[in-house]
Amino acid sequence: MDSLGTLRRTHTCIELSPEHLDQEVILMGWVLRRRDHGGVIFIDLRDRWGITQIVFNPEFNPEVHAKAHQIRSEWVLAVRGTVFRRPGDMENPKLATGAIEILVNELRILNTSETPPFPLDEDTEVSDNLRLQYRYMDLRRPEMARNLTMRHAAVQAARSYLNDNNFLDIETPMLTRSTPEGARDYLVPSRVNPGKFYALPQSPQLFKQLLMMSGMDRYYQVVRCFRDEDLRADRQPEFTQIDLEFSFVGEDDIISVTEGMIKAVFDSVSSVEISPPFRHMTYAEAMQRFGTDRPDTRFDMELIDLTETLRGCDFKVFSSAIDNSGAVKAINAKGCATFSRKDLDDLTEYAGRFGARGMAWIKIKEDEWQSPITKFFSDNEIAAMGQALDAKPGDLILFGADSVSTVNQVLAELRLELARRLDLVPEGTYDFLWITDFPLVEYDKNEKRYTALHHPFTSPKEDQLDLLESHLEKVNSRAYDLVLNGNEIGGGSIRIHQKDVQEKVFNALGIGPEEAREKFGFLLRALELGAPPHGGIAFGLDRLVMILAGTDSIRDVIAFPKTQKATCPLTEAPASVDRKQLTELSLRPDW
Ligand code: AMO
Ligand code: AMP
Repeated sequence: MDSLGTLRRTHTCIELSPEHLDQEVILMGWVLRRRDHGGVIFIDLRDRWGITQIVFNPEFNPEVHAKAHQIRSEWVLAVRGTVFRRPGDMENPKLATGAIEILVNELRILNTSETPPFPLDEDTEVSDNLRLQYRYMDLRRPEMARNLTMRHAAVQAARSYLNDNNFLDIETPMLTRSTPEGARDYLVPSRVNPGKFYALPQSPQLFKQLLMMSGMDRYYQVVRCFRDEDLRADRQPEFTQIDLEFSFVGEDDIISVTEGMIKAVFDSVSSVEISPPFRHMTYAEAMQRFGTDRPDTRFDMELIDLTETLRGCDFKVFSSAIDNSGAVKAINAKGCATFSRKDLDDLTEYAGRFGARGMAWIKIKEDEWQSPITKFFSDNEIAAMGQALDAKPGDLILFGADSVSTVNQVLAELRLELARRLDLVPEGTYDFLWITDFPLVEYDKNEKRYTALHHPFTSPKEDQLDLLESHLEKVNSRAYDLVLNGNEIGGGSIRIHQKDVQEKVFNALGIGPEEAREKFGFLLRALELGAPPHGGIAFGLDRLVMILAGTDSIRDVIAFPKTQKATCPLTEAPASVDRKQLTELSLRPDW
């Protein structure tokens, strides 16, 4: 092994071009690939920035060439050499440095590597677990370096924009207290306060509100949040928010400032021009037309409500769903009348994963509506359905009949699945949509009570305060979400800044005065001491960068993410600890 000594690199592996012909340069990096062409050895040398071809020629420097023979993948090299133009037929237009190569006259082997656990040069399918176990190798791959670079640029653009707009970057505690609502907390036992626990923050929500009450006026933070919830491709137990809070504002101010921030972020990393202001849609309209509060509006295939059309029809599955205050809705999969029995069975199975108890269908043929259920409908019902669905020969109609929420969920998922199968989603477009006028609460079937749809500090619409006690389910909130290509990338609200309103909302959510005082006494007290009107929003940085990077998992844009089971295959966290550590924390486990 050679030492680096006083050798210093002159260029990175992406910088050299025909401009540098005949110059002597020093490069350092990893061996991506080695090819032996009749004595001449070619190596692709890789660093974070790119790849440069280096050449060992026995006629030019036999000693160095001999030494190069032993080199293998992922060895770490320093080379001194001269920049040459590649022979015309050897140029590689796909590579930024594809017009040149370096003829090496000094080679230092800085380190060797055992055979890598998976190849880094191709799109070989590598299991996620292996990638995470050897994350430092996975991150050497150019697309991963590109993702992290993009994430860095996005954060810098957001910071720079927010700094220019008078926001203060203020840190908030990571060791804080557990509060009800939201996801499950990660708890941290306190050694010096036996039996007491901190919670890692699910978000800095209360602290940023307290900062407004502290007169800070505009706050931001790029901050880690922790939620012990079931993980999915777009959910990690720890994730990062770009978190903001403003004083003396309404929804319009927050929306326009954050649109500016999103534009700054996109301008910094994407060639696609985005142009705020973004469209708005109410929650009610989104649920009605798309069955979800984060609709992907890049393609049509909207949900058509047939509840009134089919009320009292002879098909019992439908009429009984309607009689039980449910709904019947359908989507028209244009041109899918050719689907086979198996296609339909697959889709039915898929719908079942989201709670569907069946998936009635009708194939629209030139001369008939082909389906086991057509016989149940009158001519009038058929005509009305045909018109509502714009049914044309060749179309396939898929139905959902159940409670409103199940129908919406099932058809929203079927719509997305069909769009994937039919390739309806246009690539490279960014479709932003603000969702507004959320209900204040939602009914939690498990807990049999209403919980805050956003969080309990969200302001109800000011003209609906008197409905809090009588018709809680009818009250709308001053919350808004930003949806991008069917992903919720941010959400926020105007907050409650009056103590009596906050107490009323706690009460409506079943948080009695006792519990409110115990858990939120500090907030209620602050609301008595001059709290300004305020509001804010938080963006999911990981999701934003995931979309910008064109990947479908936020793990691809996080340096050291967790698996679906919230483990880290690299460090093997979570891990057991010594009994002594537990004793110090006054914990006596019985597992
Ligand atoms: P909310 O809970 O909607 O709001 O979170 C804001 C945004 O954070 C992202 N996000 C996540 N990203 C990855 N993994 C997760 N587990 C995860 N959970 C949420 C989403 C989401 O839109 N304090 C409020 C904001 C406010 O009211 O100002 C909050 O945290 O993109
Ligand atoms: P059945 O009468 O149960 O044989 O159902 C007739 C058709 O209706 C089948 O295609 C079922 O998949 C479909 N179906 C049953 N329940 C539902 C439901 N809740 N929503 C939509 N379609 C259903």
